[in-house]
Amino acid sequence: MILTTDPQVAAEAIIRGDLVAIPTETVYGLGADATNDRAVGKIFTVKGRPQTHPLIVHIADTSEIARYADCIPRFAYELCEKFWPGPLTILLRRKPEMCATAAGGLPTIALRCPDHELTLTMLRAANTGVAAPSANLFGQVSPTTAEHVAADLGDSVSVILDGGACAIGVESTIVDCTTDRPAIVRAGGITREQIEATVGPTTSASTAAAPGTLPSHYSPKCLVVLATDNEDAIRNSQEQLAYQRSIRVIDYGHDVDLYAHNLYEDLRSCDRDGIDVAIAVLPPDEGIGTAVRDRLFRAAHSE
Ligand code: TXA
Ligand code: MG
Repeated sequence: MILTTDPQVAAEAIIRGDLVAIPTETVYGLGADATNDRAVGKIFTVKGRPQTHPLIVHIADTSEIARYADCIPRFAYELCEKFWPGPLTILLRRKPEMCATAAGGLPTIALRCPDHELTLTMLRAANTGVAAPSANLFGQVSPTTAEHVAADLGDSVSVILDGGACAIGVESTIVDCTTDRPAIVRAGGITREQIEATVGPTTSASTAAAPGTLPSHYSPKCLVVLATDNEDAIRNSQEQLAYQRSIRVIDYGHDVDLYAHNLYEDLRSCDRDGIDVAIAVLPPDEGIGTAVRDRLFRAAHSE
């Protein structure tokens, strides 16, 4: 495995059909040439991810949307013009001849233009879309640094493009654009308010329940217990300590952005330090706090 800050090295590996971990503003992705079925197949193998769980295809700008999708509604372009590059993924009708493996055989395709200069430079140099799920093992905590990726995947990835710590820290918002009105299927870096301010009301009538949004996901080894506020966290802590369990409290008050930025590193550090129970105080349901709450509910869901 090569750790590099050179987008050209990463682009060459993508063109060869190798796996490359890419930095984005949300989390690191495990990337392969989206048009190369063999390369994309390696992603599923390395992650231990079912072949039916479709991947997001990362592209360099809005002009590439029409390479992969057709029947593109106006509001999809309006969203991309407003929020790309950025933490927004759009679901569109897939051109049948494009990226069937990456899309898990679905008639739709997920597209996103990430806001990270190294990855944008790599995408332009490779001149192809890059399919990439988060660069963690299936069901586990997403990586927000190159060190996280190296710890999880080691030599099963050819190149890690090191772009530092991810600015936002939780995954992109996924918006289904195959319906009459946009429908949010995963909360993320762009809020419902931001989307509605741009294209009007969203609908909840999406049929495209993102297959990866399982109830139990983003799970560290330690038990995650949710607390509604600081006092609730103290009560929970006393209970856990009575059972002789080691605990750590995760609480950022109203600072939802800092919570998002630190969440995955905090969960990972609990595991590295052998903590039994992470007690996470839920942030307010506003801004990116909505996405943090969503990830915490899934991390706490034991199954
Ligand atoms: O921020 C992000 O979105 C990160 C970075 C790397 O871009 N990627 C990411 O990928 O979170 P992943 O694979 O962990 O989550 C992608 C989600 C899954 O829930 C998957 O089911 C959904 O996107 N998805 C992808 N293609 C889809 C499709 N055609 N229809 C419905 N859902 C789709
Ligand atoms: Mg993921």
